[in-house]
Amino acid sequence: MVKIEINGISISAREGQMVIEAADEAGISIPRFCYHKKLSIAASCRMCLVEVEKVAKPLPACATPVTEGMKVFTRSPKAIAAQKAVMEFLLINHPLDCPICDQGGECDLQEMAVGYGKDVSRFSEGKRVVQDKNIGPLIATDMTRCIHCTRCVRFGQEVAGIMELGATGRGEHMRIGTYIEKSVDSEVSGNIIDLCPVGALTSKPYRFTARPWELVAHPAISPHDCVGANLTLHVRRHEVMRAVARENEVVNESWIADRDRYSYLGLRHTERLTRPMVKSGGRWQETDWDSALVAAVEGLKRIGDVEPANVGALGAYGATTEELYLLQKLTRGIGSQNVDHRLRQQDFARQEGAAVFPWLGQAVADLENLDAALLVGSNVRKEQPLMALRLRKSALKGGSIMFINPMDYAFNFPVAEKVVVSPSVMVTELAAVAKVLLDSKGERAPAGYGELLDCTAPGEEHKAIAARLQQATKGTVLLGNLAVHHPAYSDLAGLAVLVARLAGCRFGYIGEGGNSAGAWLAGAVPHRLAGGKSAPTGGKAWREMFASGVKGYLLLGTEPELDCIDSGLASRALNDAEFVVALTAFQSEQMREYADVLLPIGLFPETSGTFVNAEGLWQSFQGATMPPGEARPGWKVLRVLGNLLDVEGFDYETSEEIRQELETRCAEIIPSSESDWGAPRNERLGEGLIRIVDFPIYSVDPMVRRATALQHTADAAVTGVSMNALTADARGLSGLDEVRVSDGNNALTLPLVIDERVPDGCAYIAAGQTQTMGLGAAYGVIEVSPAGEEANRQVV
Ligand code: SF4
Ligand code: SF4
Ligand code: FES
Repeated sequence: MVKIEINGISISAREGQMVIEAADEAGISIPRFCYHKKLSIAASCRMCLVEVEKVAKPLPACATPVTEGMKVFTRSPKAIAAQKAVMEFLLINHPLDCPICDQGGECDLQEMAVGYGKDVSRFSEGKRVVQDKNIGPLIATDMTRCIHCTRCVRFGQEVAGIMELGATGRGEHMRIGTYIEKSVDSEVSGNIIDLCPVGALTSKPYRFTARPWELVAHPAISPHDCVGANLTLHVRRHEVMRAVARENEVVNESWIADRDRYSYLGLRHTERLTRPMVKSGGRWQETDWDSALVAAVEGLKRIGDVEPANVGALGAYGATTEELYLLQKLTRGIGSQNVDHRLRQQDFARQEGAAVFPWLGQAVADLENLDAALLVGSNVRKEQPLMALRLRKSALKGGSIMFINPMDYAFNFPVAEKVVVSPSVMVTELAAVAKVLLDSKGERAPAGYGELLDCTAPGEEHKAIAARLQQATKGTVLLGNLAVHHPAYSDLAGLAVLVARLAGCRFGYIGEGGNSAGAWLAGAVPHRLAGGKSAPTGGKAWREMFASGVKGYLLLGTEPELDCIDSGLASRALNDAEFVVALTAFQSEQMREYADVLLPIGLFPETSGTFVNAEGLWQSFQGATMPPGEARPGWKVLRVLGNLLDVEGFDYETSEEIRQELETRCAEIIPSSESDWGAPRNERLGEGLIRIVDFPIYSVDPMVRRATALQHTADAAVTGVSMNALTADARGLSGLDEVRVSDGNNALTLPLVIDERVPDGCAYIAAGQTQTMGLGAAYGVIEVSPAGEEANRQVV
């Protein structure tokens, strides 16, 4: 530590620290534009000039390291004169736009111009004008206002790992842009809006809709992935006008993903359900809450009274922990154990051995200090964009980030090793890594693993992965979402645990959806009660419910025809069900087909509750606004349903009471990824063309699917059927624009895309999109033939 003085105040600073950082820590403000604590130092704006004793000229505080005994003056006549001179230069070319500028009222330049600007300009020449760029549906540009701080450029280069904006030209001719006309497609691009100190980059959907002084800020938590990013929702007269990042160093630092930032647009979608609805004689009627609740209760009793196990409940990955707790409590209260939320997991064979909740095995922040990480089945960049930013930091520090994946996804960090194979051999590829580790340690294969390990022939890539994991001081093996989707999930999980143990690494899960950790803890699984205790009598997981003809369903915040990995099975089961009541924020055409009662509930900004993130952090929030029309928070609707169904213990006054009850049950849980997956089952996928499935970033849940601006991005584009040229050629499909895809039950016509990221013998077809709805066989066998070969049968 060194001792310095700023404005006569003695402070301790870390060696090598810049003056601006020491001043910030001491609460002394120095004006700045280009400096940002999360970005490299550009020292380009000169707004932070300060006087330093014994130095003739003012120095930029952001680029001047502290030295022992240094005396800094931020408000001396010399410092202020320098700061005012910089401001005069900045304003030379800046338009006097404040009254019509979207940044007005929250603009760094505007604020500083009040303190350091003059009321008269000495510049009488014409001002420069810069043409605006169209950089996509999320960010509006007004480049005449740009002050060339390069924060946006440095963010892309240093944090996001995709340099989409850059500076061309010099001096007055300098321009910030994409160089060639293109949109900014990074999944974290919206952060440059928060970073831009002026109104050059603003939110396109929010633009010109509100002024900052009209808005009330409410803290919130994002429900779209297991990071649990902290947001601030800005609300005007009960309407959420925008979402911005809320700093939380241990969760999301200063960043949020575009999905977190723009999903609020789904709140206003035309499909919002605002009144309870009941289907009578095949016709939908809006009704009051009492009648709708009575209809829901009568329908559930009609089925449950005959046989409680004929009722099943399905919750969303993004429902609050309180809602999921009440959902399972209600379902179990009426005598059924059929409750689930794992709509994208297909293999439940070893679920008894699973950890108490899908724990990351470490803190989210630990992901930035890894020496080695092996991710099995993960497109982390698009699935959990903020985790990818942390992994990127590890990679840039020399850490080895490695993958065993069914697609050759593009990442925003260097990938040290990758094995891209058909899903049918993912298990044996991971087993090959385990075999190398066993051999190197001279250990015998654990009981039951012998047969699998004997069939593997480790190659150079497996040896390299094993060596990097073994050499790591901080190493981890993570199971991603695509592993969860895999029909041999339990084999992959068992092998991943084994690899982590042999390599001396941590093992963890990257949870599916926003609140799978909360759902497990709340008991929204058929074999575990709240608090992780085994259920005395196990119920049916979703697939068994759908396949065994469960007659009555209670849906919470989910559209299984899109959220479920087997859209075909979900659609058929729900259409065949006798009674379906949906607690939902939206009414879709499909839901109107299969449901009998629709109860409108609020989305995350409209309810209080808790999300538990991948590291097990419970983050509670209050509603930022009221649900629209007659919609009510989900926990309140479940509370009333519980009372009407005569289930005990449903007299909650607040969601905090529910949380406290659940917390008591979870009090003894210590996060752990200890799990006993048993010996591998050697589950084999079928012979033929294998369908690879993922849920694209903007198709993950009902709210995101309806966020219009996100749906206009490149990431939301529907790809159709993707396969590599060799696979297409072998099936006589080369050159075709459209093909017919059949899973044996349903058939769709989709565009054909030649994509070399897809392994041989596989076809990638996204889930979660209406265009592919009705298709099953996720990681199963499909047939693809030229379109028109047979009469196409569009389903659902
Ligand atoms: Fe005014 Fe700031 Fe907009 Fe410039 S960027 S016109 S200073 S509000
Ligand atoms: Fe800075 Fe904004 Fe210009 Fe980018 S667009 S250089 S963030 S002022
Ligand atoms: Fe120091 Fe810009 S903030 S030069």
